[in-house]
Amino acid sequence: MTGAAADTADEDFVFNPFAPGFTDDPYPHYREVRERVPVHHHPLGFWLLSRYADVSALLRAGLSVDARHATPGPLGQLYEELGADLGDRRAGGMSMLDKDPPDHTRLRRLVSKAFTPRAVEALTPGVDTLVDEALDRIADAGSADLVEALAFPLPFAVISRMLGMPPADHERLRGLTGLLVRSLEPVTEPDVVRAIAAADAELTAMTADVVAWKREHPADDLLTALITAEDNGDVLGDDELVAQVVLLYVAGHETTVNLIAGGTLALLRHPDQLAALRADPGLIGNAVEELLRYDSPVQSSRRITLAPYRVGDREIPAGSFVLANLAGANRDPAFFGTDADELRLGRPDARQHLSFGGGPHHCLGAALARLEARTAIGGLVRRFPGLALDGEVAWNGRINLRGPERLPVRV
Ligand code: HEM
Repeated sequence: MTGAAADTADEDFVFNPFAPGFTDDPYPHYREVRERVPVHHHPLGFWLLSRYADVSALLRAGLSVDARHATPGPLGQLYEELGADLGDRRAGGMSMLDKDPPDHTRLRRLVSKAFTPRAVEALTPGVDTLVDEALDRIADAGSADLVEALAFPLPFAVISRMLGMPPADHERLRGLTGLLVRSLEPVTEPDVVRAIAAADAELTAMTADVVAWKREHPADDLLTALITAEDNGDVLGDDELVAQVVLLYVAGHETTVNLIAGGTLALLRHPDQLAALRADPGLIGNAVEELLRYDSPVQSSRRITLAPYRVGDREIPAGSFVLANLAGANRDPAFFGTDADELRLGRPDARQHLSFGGGPHHCLGAALARLEARTAIGGLVRRFPGLALDGEVAWNGRINLRGPERLPVRV
């Protein structure tokens, strides 16, 4: 199709993430859209990019992430009619994920002052202990749902402790963050939109209380470091602080759970690769990169064009909402070769995956996620030579933050 037709939605093919079975295995759909319409103008108004080169360039192009710049498509109109105004509310929020420069640069710099590689490195012994304890419990029971026994509690405990969140609120917080991340999904049910908005308000209020308490009770934790973080006399304001804490808290566990559970499942489904990792535990670093590539815990990321944006022979108009299909790009044979759909733990360029995004918004927690996944998956493989699937896997039904909801294993 030529640039002249770029302002009309593609008519001969429509990418459908609501197709039956999509959330169990979206990869055939990603392959089809990448091969048929790699620059896809969807009838719902957004654009979808699926080739590695296009996705990587988009993320690095410094486009906007502020949804207020997008011409509202049918989904945005639905939110407006509902009065929940979710799209605007997220964009009007103060998390760095929704901010453009200069705000983004400033917020990211201040948070980076507290969330340093050294702070992550210092977590290693605590992560080792949490994994050992979880593996002991699994060994005693002989079988487990790996999501409940390890993949969820590990990142949840690590980020909660790191921030200094009060332990008593964990269950409530877990329910709220589970709802909040649905704002990253294409939600169309009015009740769900309202529930997400309510969860966001409650989580923000709870976090504000914790921040106020922490101001009075400073400790050796990330939250205290964020409160005191300063850059040339600049500090985080109250609302800004709360928004970054909510972001770190949610991003800190709602993603890594998918990497640990989805990664373990991928290994169990590829016994030859699991055997290779057993034979060479030193492979774990590259193995985690390949598991990230093979099944991306965050499947897509979004940008908004402020000016016409050209991809090959198509021109995406200003004010468009563009989805970067990270998971589809990670399987692009034009970049990763003809075996891109295969799991190969020794793949030399596995680390080139786009699962942590790229450019100015590249994941700030990548080192922490890698540490947790190496320790959890490496520990499981080392400790349990008989690790095997023990029943049906259930997926969480999410299109974006996709992963197993139940992963029954026996050891
Ligand atoms: C941003 C993925 C774990 C904190 C991102 C982005 C992706 C991503 C794709 C970029 C979004 C965009 O470009 O619009 C992941 C994956 C994880 C993970 C796959 C686990 C496997 C974590 C953890 C933390 C974290 C553990 C913190 C504790 C953040 C933050 C941002 C971010 C703060 C926003 C950065 C910015 O806007 O400048 N993550 N993440 N993430 N991530 Fe992660």
